[in-house]
Amino acid sequence: MAQNVYDNPDFFAGYSQLPRQVQGLDGAPEWPAVRALLPDLAGKRVADLGCGFGWASRWLRDQGAVSVLGVDLSQNMITRARADTDDSSIEYRIADLETLDLPEAAFDLVYSALTFHYIRDFERLVSMIASALVSDGGLVFTIEHPIFMAAAHPDWISDKEGRKTWPVNGYSVEGERRTDWFAKGVLKTTGLWQQRSMA
Ligand SMILES: C[S@@+](CC[C@H](N)C(=O)[O-])C[C@H]1O[C@@H](n2cnc3c(N)ncnc32)[C@H](O)[C@@H]1O
Repeated sequence: MAQNVYDNPDFFAGYSQLPRQVQGLDGAPEWPAVRALLPDLAGKRVADLGCGFGWASRWLRDQGAVSVLGVDLSQNMITRARADTDDSSIEYRIADLETLDLPEAAFDLVYSALTFHYIRDFERLVSMIASALVSDGGLVFTIEHPIFMAAAHPDWISDKEGRKTWPVNGYSVEGERRTDWFAKGVLKTTGLWQQRSMA
């Protein structure tokens, strides 16, 4: 069973205050670089895996996608996505990416932002995505860089002079790791698959 920390009330309350959730895509510093990777969306059938509040799902439709399926494990996230969306061509579904099966050759683009580092069985997920895409389909995804998730307490440390440092202990540890981020012991995974993906 996948960890579902986004349905933890304390976590959700903190996460909801992040600029990327309050302002949407404009509040995400990586968005201009990610947007530049996306193909022409006119007429495309898109899946948004780990869709959260649905900011990207709505943007994808605004750019001409013919349909968007937003998938997320969290009831909180999907409830909010549905409340913020008035578009019958966007379907939001609660499902676990660890076990999700999408129909074969049903999508032109799979998009995912900052979600795959929660997935233990990345090989299975990628194989499922490959079969869900048409032969000239595309996958665009982002994950958290290990420099962010490496430390057990990922936050700035200030010294007496006010200088700030970012802890990166445990950078080369592969596999599951637990960090305190809005809640104690949030489970994320890092390892060779990420390094291969970033190469
Ligand atoms: C950091 S948020 C990103 C949300 C959105 N993509 C964005 O960029 O704002 C990660 C999302 O992944 C979802 N998630 C985590 N593990 C999941 C899983 N096993 N299956 C489906 N969704 C998952 C969480 O519920 C959360 O909404």
